[in-house]
Amino acid sequence: MSDIQSDARGRLRHLLTLEGVDRQTLTTLLDRADAFRVAPGEPVRHQQFLAGRTVVNLFFEPSTRTRASFELAARRLGADVLNLDIEASSAVKGESLEDTLYTLQAMNADVFVVRHKDAGVPALLARHAAAHVHVLNAGEAHVSHPTQGLLDALTIRRHKPDLASISVAIVGDIKHSRVARSAVQALATLGTRDIRLAGPKTLLPKKGEIQGALFTDADEALAGADVIMMLRIQKERMQKAAVPSAAAYFKRYGLDTRRLKRAKADAIVMHPGPMNRGIEIATEVADGPQSVIREQVANGVAVRMAVLQGFYA
Ligand code: CP
Repeated sequence: MSDIQSDARGRLRHLLTLEGVDRQTLTTLLDRADAFRVAPGEPVRHQQFLAGRTVVNLFFEPSTRTRASFELAARRLGADVLNLDIEASSAVKGESLEDTLYTLQAMNADVFVVRHKDAGVPALLARHAAAHVHVLNAGEAHVSHPTQGLLDALTIRRHKPDLASISVAIVGDIKHSRVARSAVQALATLGTRDIRLAGPKTLLPKKGEIQGALFTDADEALAGADVIMMLRIQKERMQKAAVPSAAAYFKRYGLDTRRLKRAKADAIVMHPGPMNRGIEIATEVADGPQSVIREQVANGVAVRMAVLQGFYA
């Protein structure tokens, strides 16, 4: 575990990465998140675990799911929430990240949720944070997206409780994916052994960089899989991967109903969002009976509540 991530008693003080977080800590977070889940259509119950606390969302990159779910999670736990508009903040005048942190800390901010394109930013803030302040990584370059890894693990565990026996296929731009890294870290710690990483050769990590077997053939990777996680592909990455068009990418790596049949009949289909329908996933699969994509979103709120509550448990 990152040395600044835990306190003297080994409890999470910040959540910067899932790398090195032990199985018991992950299991406790997932169990707690399970208890925070709310069935569709049910009223949410507001709680007071974070009453008197202030959570600041610092999103230097766009987000729909992560930002909205952190805000809802914090409010449902009784916190005040500040969504700093970065484009209208003094960051555009050159104010440093540290000075932004110090300024908001002076206003009694207690938790900073940060997304940034540069690796190391969440750790930088954690190093400069006051002793009572918690930093949560909400997406860091290609490196880490720990609450996404947790929500993915929770979603998988709810459908496939025996994590040691399942086969998980992750398909797309693995090399640049913080989602893949965090999901694999969580699953590997929780006991999953058969992890398959599939994509064009130029979009695969180096062997051993991320735990899992590498495949350039998506059909091969999907054979007998219990879980399929599709990743978003960016158009400029397709060119670098020598894939001439969206149609060509879809043909080789996209998940349609024909390719889905390669997996087990009860396989679940995941996607972290945002989705490129018709490029990495067909609409009939994204909205089909095996899709748990919207459940992932719902679990995102529960997982973020669990992490936030854990800081004050
Ligand atoms: N999965 C995810 O991080 O989505 P957002 O970019 O919308 O937050």
